[in-house]
Amino acid sequence: MNKKTVKDVDLKGKKVFVRCDFNVPMDENQKITDNTRIVAALPTIRYLLEQNCKIILASHLGRPKGEVKPEYSLKPVAEELSNQLGKEVIMAKDVIGEDAMQKANHLQEGEILLLENVRFHKEETENDPEFSKKLASMAEIFVNDAFGTAHRAHSSTTGIAAYLPAVSGFLIEKELQFLGNAVQNPERPFVAILGGAKVSDKIGVIEHLIEKVDTIIIGGGMAYTFFKAQGYEVGKSICEMDKLDLAKQLMQKAKENNVKFILPIDTKIAKEPTQDAESKTVKCTEIPADWEGFDIGEETIKMIVEEIKKAKTVVWNGPLGLFEVDQFAMGTNAVAQTLAQIDATTIIGGGDSISAIKKAGVEDKMTHVSTGGGASLEFLEGKRLPGIEALMDK
Ligand code: 3PG
Repeated sequence: MNKKTVKDVDLKGKKVFVRCDFNVPMDENQKITDNTRIVAALPTIRYLLEQNCKIILASHLGRPKGEVKPEYSLKPVAEELSNQLGKEVIMAKDVIGEDAMQKANHLQEGEILLLENVRFHKEETENDPEFSKKLASMAEIFVNDAFGTAHRAHSSTTGIAAYLPAVSGFLIEKELQFLGNAVQNPERPFVAILGGAKVSDKIGVIEHLIEKVDTIIIGGGMAYTFFKAQGYEVGKSICEMDKLDLAKQLMQKAKENNVKFILPIDTKIAKEPTQDAESKTVKCTEIPADWEGFDIGEETIKMIVEEIKKAKTVVWNGPLGLFEVDQFAMGTNAVAQTLAQIDATTIIGGGDSISAIKKAGVEDKMTHVSTGGGASLEFLEGKRLPGIEALMDK
């Protein structure tokens, strides 16, 4: 990475504004259901504690759209952070209000303050210069460690960097190291497994990766758009009629680049997306008119497992079926289990594939599980991430 990190600047005793991505899932009682992003932020926070910094943490949670909504408060995050660190995390009642400013002013070395949800102000997502300046006024240095929000040009991710020296934390450094290396310097064969419901969500990734990989495996709902594009009937399966030409172009581009483009050969179909629904497996070219495809079939699983076993680098984004329903989770599980067994660099990005590997219990068998959903997708599309661009060059 050609951007400065916390290791490249003198932080001893400094007041540091750290942007994290604490946008964690919570249930209806504001109980955190997955603390991955909080745990991922700990190495940077611990390092700053070692440097005796006065630490001001900021994050968004959800999309409260500029309004103060208690259900989007970061209080549960402060509690979880405090549990993880074994240390008090002071919670501010607001973001740039009297309480936050006063607490930031009085912060002592080795103390941690968490501001309220930065998206309680609409100026955050507008990247308003005055708001950015106010955030910056609290500290001497800006550390961005919010990889999951690095694709957003907001006040606390980019705007603030205009007013403070800006460096990355360890999480951003690690994400870029793994995602970047996988794409730029892959050990081959390099296989991309792309799933999810819609081709339209993955166009950029497919286009970019076609120029890098040896093999692309397509699964999930978007596979049916590729079938339709080849003139087959897909019954009631999800299909983007306005993306048929694009699907043809992508297959053509793969051919021109000598990339093996693997589509499913059989599919598990049903009339309802439920666990109890009657289901059967048919060839992808023989889907009856009133049935819908929800998973890849056994023949396809066998074929792609063989392909994945040959790989030395695998990037996986998007489930291969409706994995939330057990009877349609076979394809996604098979991929997760295979990735857990192979001797290859395995990089997982995107919220759904991460849920899938967690559900399969193989998360710790992967080389790298990205904390970024949209951010890792944009990175794999070859886009520059504004939250990274804003940091100081080495
Ligand atoms: C995410 O969960 O992908 C990030 O926290 C970004 O959230 P956003 O899509 O609401 O900007």
